[in-house]
Amino acid sequence: MAEIRECVLVDGVRTPNGRAHKEKGWLRNQRPDELLSVVYEELFKRNPEVKPDDVEAVFCGSANQTGMQNDVARFAWLASGLPVNVPTNGIGQQCPSGMAAIEHAARAIMADEGDVYIASGVEDMMNVSMGMGMDFPPRLGNYWNPAELPMGANAEKMSEVLGITREDQELVAYHSHLRAKAARDAGKYADEIVPVMGIDDEGNETLIDKDQWIREDPSLEQMAGMRPAFKPEGIVTAATSSPLTVGACAALLMSRDKADELGMSYHVRYAGGVMHGYDPTMMGLSAYEAAKKLLERKGMNASDVDVFEVHEAFSVVTLACVRNLGIAENAPFDNVNLWGGALALGHPLGQSGARLPITLNNIMKNEVPDAKFGMTMMCGGFGNGNATLWEKVG
Ligand SMILES: CC(C)(COP(=O)(O)OP(=O)(O)OC[C@H]1O[C@@H](n2cnc3c(N)ncnc32)[C@H](O)[C@@H]1OP(=O)(O)O)[C@@H](O)C(=O)NCCC(=O)NCCS
Repeated sequence: MAEIRECVLVDGVRTPNGRAHKEKGWLRNQRPDELLSVVYEELFKRNPEVKPDDVEAVFCGSANQTGMQNDVARFAWLASGLPVNVPTNGIGQQCPSGMAAIEHAARAIMADEGDVYIASGVEDMMNVSMGMGMDFPPRLGNYWNPAELPMGANAEKMSEVLGITREDQELVAYHSHLRAKAARDAGKYADEIVPVMGIDDEGNETLIDKDQWIREDPSLEQMAGMRPAFKPEGIVTAATSSPLTVGACAALLMSRDKADELGMSYHVRYAGGVMHGYDPTMMGLSAYEAAKKLLERKGMNASDVDVFEVHEAFSVVTLACVRNLGIAENAPFDNVNLWGGALALGHPLGQSGARLPITLNNIMKNEVPDAKFGMTMMCGGFGNGNATLWEKVG
């Protein structure tokens, strides 16, 4: 029986995130398979030591595996002329599907099933809209109120049950935009974004190299005047919800031995991951439950983790998670989402879970190089949440 091996995160790239909008989206000329092809090809360009044939398997998360996203990883891989012998595996677990892709790759490496894996995620919420083709089982109604299952209804219920105010939610969104803009302007995302051809605000074809949803001048006053998005008397607005988005990402994970043999550089190793199921009408807390379980298993406290990426599905989700973990009470958070989050960057459902470890790695490398542990936390529609732990080794 082989020993459990170490898995390191060698590289990660993503497309810019575009608005999922047929007239206004910068990436409205793209398809999800094309975006995925871009990030797969880019990984090999950036890491010429790794040959496509070396890849044991490709995992890919997407929330809605239908239409252009049906077996999208296989089609993107083949459409890039990449080797047919490398298998791809689509993972469907709503928003955390990209994080599950990372976990699957890491576990396979640690179990000595292979040395080199790609974990990826993609969602094009313009071409494959959220919930397209979804059909709830009728018997679900025996246990859960179907009216409470949609994401917006979850966010409203969490706000009410947990007593999280609109003002506190708007602060989260405000700081997310400020941080995302600051990080973008300082070139901090340049390491992970691969520019792709898109269409600018004037309708010209151009190379897009930044995320579309980041607001240049976020305003608390403006947010306070926005109408509720999900119910007339609600408090969750478009500002405190992650927007409908298009984007793809891919990460290169390797056994530490193989990475050393090829002379690759790396900064973090995978230190563990957990999936946890939770109430589908309060799905945002699934990320907290997963993190709690992971910390318990590791014999750690939240205070032992230096830096977090907590998914911003909705402001209320992030706030509930950081408050429950005892990390912070209100935004801006000292050690959470230092370069902004999905409220500003956008949230292509299956992409975000794989993006968080990529961004966390860059933050641990470039922003807080003394950080020993980093954690990513991702909630998921209908209550599946994930968390992963990363430890500095570089
Ligand atoms: C909230 C939601 C319904 C809003 O959708 P929408 O009505 O199409 O609204 P948009 O996102 O296009 O935004 C509406 C307007 O508000 C503006 N807006 C958004 N955030 C803003 C902010 N922080 N400040 C000011 N204006 C803002 C937008 O720019 C847009 O105006 P524009 O078209 O002039 O640019 C949609 O984004 C949504 O469903 N989000 C949640 C997605 C989800 O559930 N994901 C999974 C999570 S688990």
